[in-house]
Amino acid sequence: MAAARIIDGKAFAAGLRERVAGAVATLKKQHDLTPGLAVVLVGEDPASQVYVRNKAKQTVEVGMNSFEHRLDATTSEAELLALVEQLNTDSAVHGILVQLPLPDQIDTEKVINTIDPAKDVDGFHVINAGRLATGQHALVACTPVGCVMLAKDALGDLSGVNAVVVGRSNIVGKPVAQLLLQEHCTVTIAHSRTKDLPGVVRRADLVIAAVGRPEMIKGDWIKPGACVIDVGINRIERDGKSTLVGDCDYDTCAKVAGSITPVPGGVGPMTIACLLHNTVRAASGIAGVATPKM
Ligand code: GUN
Repeated sequence: MAAARIIDGKAFAAGLRERVAGAVATLKKQHDLTPGLAVVLVGEDPASQVYVRNKAKQTVEVGMNSFEHRLDATTSEAELLALVEQLNTDSAVHGILVQLPLPDQIDTEKVINTIDPAKDVDGFHVINAGRLATGQHALVACTPVGCVMLAKDALGDLSGVNAVVVGRSNIVGKPVAQLLLQEHCTVTIAHSRTKDLPGVVRRADLVIAAVGRPEMIKGDWIKPGACVIDVGINRIERDGKSTLVGDCDYDTCAKVAGSITPVPGGVGPMTIACLLHNTVRAASGIAGVATPKM
């Protein structure tokens, strides 16, 4: 079996950001509209700080306005809700992202569901999740959108494809399954209680791995020629060094798969690009103008 084609998420994301920049330029020229994205970070989680910095940088690079709000780790739920409500009414802000995880004193669900659904560029609000599940126009979570873009790029039309999603989170597993259903896949959602998980994964033409367990999915679980999209970003110690690995055991899976995303450089870079894409969609929707093609 030949080695899998490596799906270059970094290159795909760069292309998507260019198309987003073109759409931003169109909105400015035709409607005097500059999309604005507000990102809220509570506390000092190092990984979150890196994400927020990258988001702000890429937002400005595509020509949008970036608003950053950094709050102390001791911020109360009431203070955060007050900020979200202020951003809901701010006409320069079209997208609101509250970086997760939030400190324990704050009810995450309450914060997410306080965001105006029209500005919910994370697609986490119960209204957007419900719209997605019922096939209505919705803002959809960024990582799932990125996964489906990469899968379509690798496999072409997904109609009739046997897709197995490993993981059932609200952030990735459930929404990616909904998107794959919209693409006419036959979708199985597997998880930690699934019986004979290797046997279930072995039936898949498309595997979406989103369990958050380092290198759990092995090469002998993969149907020869299948497309493997690995959402996992797990930091582990190996040979005395800190290293990033996915939910798939890359070396063994790449020997069997037809195509596979690397970690890093696969799904990861797609998430921010899709966030910018969602911000253009949100801004167009709020302004009542057509979303430029991206
Ligand atoms: N933390 C890790 N990933 C995400 C994401 O996609 N959105 C938000 N808001 N927080 C995150």
